[in-house]
Amino acid sequence: VTVVALALGGGLLWLWQDAEISTVGKESFDNALAIPPLAKSRVDKDGTRVFDLRMQSGEKEFKAGRATPTWGFNGDHLGPTLRAKRGEKVRVRIRNGLDEASTVHWHGMHLPAKMDGGPHQMIRPGGSWSPHWTVDQPAATLWYHPHPHGATEKHVQRGLAGLFLLDDKRSARLALPKKYGVDDLPVIVQDVRFDGAKFDHGHKMMRNVGFLGDRTMVNGTLAPYQEVGDELIRLRLLNASTARTYDFGFPDDRAFSLVGTDGGALERPARMQRIQLSPGERAEIVVRMRPGERTVLRSFPQDNYGGAWQQRFSGGDDAFDVLQLRAAERLRPSPALPSELGELEVPDGAGASRARFFDLKQSGINGRAMRMDRIDEVVTRGATETWTVRNDNGMPHNFHVHDVQFRVLEVNGEAPPPELRGPKDTVFLPNGTTMKLALRFEGPADPKTPYMYHCHLLSHEDGGMMGQFVVVEKGQKAGKPSGRHSGH
Ligand code: C2O
Ligand code: CU
Repeated sequence: VTVVALALGGGLLWLWQDAEISTVGKESFDNALAIPPLAKSRVDKDGTRVFDLRMQSGEKEFKAGRATPTWGFNGDHLGPTLRAKRGEKVRVRIRNGLDEASTVHWHGMHLPAKMDGGPHQMIRPGGSWSPHWTVDQPAATLWYHPHPHGATEKHVQRGLAGLFLLDDKRSARLALPKKYGVDDLPVIVQDVRFDGAKFDHGHKMMRNVGFLGDRTMVNGTLAPYQEVGDELIRLRLLNASTARTYDFGFPDDRAFSLVGTDGGALERPARMQRIQLSPGERAEIVVRMRPGERTVLRSFPQDNYGGAWQQRFSGGDDAFDVLQLRAAERLRPSPALPSELGELEVPDGAGASRARFFDLKQSGINGRAMRMDRIDEVVTRGATETWTVRNDNGMPHNFHVHDVQFRVLEVNGEAPPPELRGPKDTVFLPNGTTMKLALRFEGPADPKTPYMYHCHLLSHEDGGMMGQFVVVEKGQKAGKPSGRHSGH
């Protein structure tokens, strides 16, 4: 292991050079992929769909005979898949069965700030919280995870994460694979490192980007395989890793169809051979299987994307064999993919009333580290804005905005590539990237309760690479948020 220190941007960075990390050609794929169960729900008298989630600690055997201490929702590790329809009222009754305060944030969801589950909605150990809202956004693959300020990386790494799928009339009608766990597979990708039976989250920690594991798991399954029996398989990819970026594709470079991004469907499927996802991002891809074949969802080296950083820390080719797909000898025919998926609901920037600029530095955004009691930006309900986000910090960052799905207008002055043309809530900005985004804030106004924007490399977020914005009525002033992590 080589340790190198270098001065960059005034700060001292430590580079740990580790042995080569690559699992390509080395995975045994002998574990059947776990499919997170669909969460049970009931509909109460006023028509609200009610879910129950309990944060708890436990242990799980990732490797036979070795019990790893973990956290999970309604189980030992990860959480069930919540599912609701556009227009539905939902309520999630959350109990914190951990001995630490935490929160549950609905990543990608449009909802009132008080229900957002950010750092201001802490749930004390033994406490509960019951956020409720009306789902009002297109069908999408969203997710949920804790967001306690300063401890998000740790809480997610221990296993607190799950999917929240939204459906709508259009998704019900479109001929896309939609049998959950059969031809429509949740694929929650996380990198991991073990020290004996335990997770190793600190040992070879890369201080600059955060934790990088030496192998991957999907839905909490190491070396996973999935048997499939349909010609077309939809993979709902979520990068739930805390720092690692993946560039997904298949070893034979087959093209697949990208049908959705963070906030739902693209206008039309895009044929691609690779899809890069940084932490927090999602992509829905549809891949065609050949009868009897075995293929692998692989993450490829990313030197063409500025992933050189993480390769340097990995010291090797930084590639992973993530999930093996085993096709049956006879496959059920799938209908052809629709050529049009529908219209985007994200703003195009026309009539934007305000332009803001965000400079990403590991030490903070626009030169300021996160403070719970400071509102950084005040936006007017109903307004469309453009946000220009720049990273010239010498290391990779990404940028996530709560409450909205936005449109990418430009990447370094050019039109965005297909994977950035759908609804997005998180975008990857390798060093040397500037993006212009169009966002619209629908409210409701709440001058005292902020939403967050931040880097989703969780050690950066925890370290202060986060800011707060409130949505107000025109002319209204921001209130003073509580600076405390208030449990209730
Ligand atoms: Cu997925 Cu503010 O987070
Ligand atoms: Cu960052």
